[in-house]
Amino acid sequence: MKKVLITRKLLRSCEDKASKLFNPHFNSNDEQYSQKKLIELSKGCDGILSSLTDKIDKETIEKLPATIKIISNFAVGFGNIDIEAAKKRNIIVTNTPDVLTDATAEIAMLLILGACRRANEGMEWVKKENWKWSADFLIGKQLTGSRLGILGMGRIGRALAKIAKSFGMEIHYRNRTKLNNDKEMGATFHDNIKSLFSVSDVLSICCPATKETKDIINKETLEYFPTGAIITNVARGDMIDDEAMVQALVSRKIYAVGLDVYKGEPKIHPEYLKQPTAFILPHLGSATKKTRTAMADLAIDNIDKYFKTGNAKNKVN
Ligand code: GLV
Repeated sequence: MKKVLITRKLLRSCEDKASKLFNPHFNSNDEQYSQKKLIELSKGCDGILSSLTDKIDKETIEKLPATIKIISNFAVGFGNIDIEAAKKRNIIVTNTPDVLTDATAEIAMLLILGACRRANEGMEWVKKENWKWSADFLIGKQLTGSRLGILGMGRIGRALAKIAKSFGMEIHYRNRTKLNNDKEMGATFHDNIKSLFSVSDVLSICCPATKETKDIINKETLEYFPTGAIITNVARGDMIDDEAMVQALVSRKIYAVGLDVYKGEPKIHPEYLKQPTAFILPHLGSATKKTRTAMADLAIDNIDKYFKTGNAKNKVN
């Protein structure tokens, strides 16, 4: 049986499935392996089932044993892996698309609602037990009739568009390529970010982290937004220059943020914790039993298929 290093603990049923197909090395304490430990533990293994918390950079890849043929990432994003370095070593990298689309779009909507309707402040007040209803208490922004900009109209962006339309939002998007009418579902395409941001009462970041999208929200691009816009991010923290964002929150250029992902997470820019207008979650995008099971099953299947047929499903490099 092929030996597979599974870097993080999976749900029980998924670990049982892995045990039937391979000889797995589990991480029963669910500790976060250092790069050194990951390299050490991969000795004698044929593949790695990694998670987004493993930073598998060029240096790590170069030190992996020659027996490693596949890294199956338990995530749709794969910015944690240097896929070019892996390719040079003939290591296939796979991801888990599709199965987490709906769960992540739900969290994207939660971020929009939480930020627009001041959920963080509401929760603080309710815990203090001295809140009083009044006609102007915690007035927020209503979604009906407002414009939602979606940066990255892939699977998650499109699922969010569908949900947001049912809230009466008008959808705008920026994508590398304009979608066909079917996929566009009446949304308006923008061929540059300035144009998108300038019509975004609310922005949802749904694009992958790449060299081009790193810090795409920065001091300069924040100026493109209408004053009082709301920015939400369900993709990756890399897209936001946090210093600039915090400044924009403090100056009220940006009314509120809704964030599920952070640069260098689990660390969070300390100012977000202090800003009442920051509605923040600890990377819960795909965190439902249904989705986490489907993701792990797919990550396992990706390895199994490759070992059985020599062809990998959901290959990204
Ligand atoms: C979650 O963040 C993922 O990329 O799967």
